[in-house]
Amino acid sequence: MLAPTKAAPVLEVTGIHKQFPGVKALSDAGLRLYPGEVHTLMGQNGAGKSTLIKVLTGVYQPEHGSIVLDGEAIAPCSTQHAQELGISTVYQEVNLCPNLSVAENIFIGRYPRRYGMIDWRGMRKQAAELLARLQIDIDVGKPLSSYPLAIQQMVAIARALNISARVLILDEPTSSLDEAEVQLLFSVLRSLREQGMAILFVTHFLDQTYAISDRITVMRNGEREGEYACSELSRLALVNKMIGASSEAPEQAAACAALDATVGEVFLRTKQMARRGVLAPIDLEVRKGELLGLAGLLGSGRTETARLLFGADKADSGAIEIKGRALNFSTPRDAIAEGIGFCSEDRKHEGAILSLSVRENLILALQARQGLMRAIPLRRQQELANYYVKQLGIKTASIDTPIGTLSGGNQQKVLLARWLATEPKLMILDEPTRGIDVRAKQEIMDYVTRLCRKGMSILFISSELPEVLRVSDRIVVMRDRKACGEYRRGELDDSSVLHVIAGEGAQ
Ligand SMILES: Nc1ncnc2c1ncn2[C@@H]1O[C@H](COP(=O)(O)OP(=O)(O)OP(=O)(O)O)[C@@H](O)[C@H]1O
Ligand SMILES: [Mg+2]
Repeated sequence: MLAPTKAAPVLEVTGIHKQFPGVKALSDAGLRLYPGEVHTLMGQNGAGKSTLIKVLTGVYQPEHGSIVLDGEAIAPCSTQHAQELGISTVYQEVNLCPNLSVAENIFIGRYPRRYGMIDWRGMRKQAAELLARLQIDIDVGKPLSSYPLAIQQMVAIARALNISARVLILDEPTSSLDEAEVQLLFSVLRSLREQGMAILFVTHFLDQTYAISDRITVMRNGEREGEYACSELSRLALVNKMIGASSEAPEQAAACAALDATVGEVFLRTKQMARRGVLAPIDLEVRKGELLGLAGLLGSGRTETARLLFGADKADSGAIEIKGRALNFSTPRDAIAEGIGFCSEDRKHEGAILSLSVRENLILALQARQGLMRAIPLRRQQELANYYVKQLGIKTASIDTPIGTLSGGNQQKVLLARWLATEPKLMILDEPTRGIDVRAKQEIMDYVTRLCRKGMSILFISSELPEVLRVSDRIVVMRDRKACGEYRRGELDDSSVLHVIAGEGAQ
């Protein structure tokens, strides 16, 4: 444990217990936040990070424990109450109103008034000033939805600032941001830190943790494992503390068995497949048993390519062939019938049906492929669910638990299992391990690569370049909505791939 610094903590949380039916989410959790620090909360999927944050922000009430803010015990009973006390949160999925203007979003519920009327001009002016403090210069009269997610998060932060937050909490805010947007967010966080704000940050990205934090609290199984100065904790030690190992090094990324020249025949080929304004004509080829990586920045056209291959959007020129047969997918149903699966990062919009159980969510794609008239027998559903819960290490009280009560990372694992259960011939993985902790991520990618070696074709999309380099047999690099190069395993390394992505050639 770290000796307290001279200043008093702005927030001190101790002995928090939170029980859900059948699940002990927190037992003796806690943390200390000091003014003017960025503090990262780390732990494996299901460790209790989001639950602890929801206790601090009044979403859940704990059975025991104390929360002391500026020396006074508090008991937030709603997010609104927590905000009034000075604790504000920014979630990954920004929970503001997309149709309202930026200015309105900043002032929702607290519109400035003048002579009894809402002072629209004053509001826009104040909104612009708040955003200027974050070095953001945008038209605050435009609807929030007209701006990218990164800007929307800044608006959420501006809102928090306006409520004069002492404590700002961000739960996995960077998982959908590209590199430049992460840098923007970090520069804002640094300047807020200088102004004395206490910032609590949750992420699974080790690089980000080390780039921004002063201190780290590690959680394990609902408990506080320890509190460390970032500069005094090595990455290896951090991972070991998260998983509860002492000396064992996490087996490092043995490069996957290199593929010999005998991959199977071409499974899928695109010829000049394109969609106006979305993707320039692209020629791709994926062989049976091959893992093809798509690298590139967010917005480079990777997800757009995947959506065309899956029939989620329709190509307006070019062709898609499966085993030499020309096809034209107009809906995902057509693609699923051809043996294509698509696990995407967007678990809120395309994925989990929160009120259904783990088992029901898991068999959805298989059921869709079989046709709704041929129900999968309950016994078979249970077998499949139990199998994948074990294979992917899904942390859930039972297979009949509603998926909405699982932690974010565990929900993502269920969605991956949903597609694996269809035993697809081509699996498209679009950021499949978003929100999944470091250790589980590696286990899942190893599992998927083994499936690939048994004959499944995989198209793998990830912003984490080392991961793409590690697992792919071949890599297509995309930039500005076009394919701009193709490389075999070993032809690119961490630094040359960056040059290619940035458009400077491989050297
Ligand atoms: N509303 C709920 N009802 C029942 N169980 C819940 C609920 N919310 C969380 N849990 C359980 O509490 C535990 C901790 O979940 P939490 O979401 O806090 O994890 P986390 O550390 O944020 O994980 P991740 O990194 O995957 O987001 C999990 O076992 C989860 O299933
Ligand atoms: Mg979480």
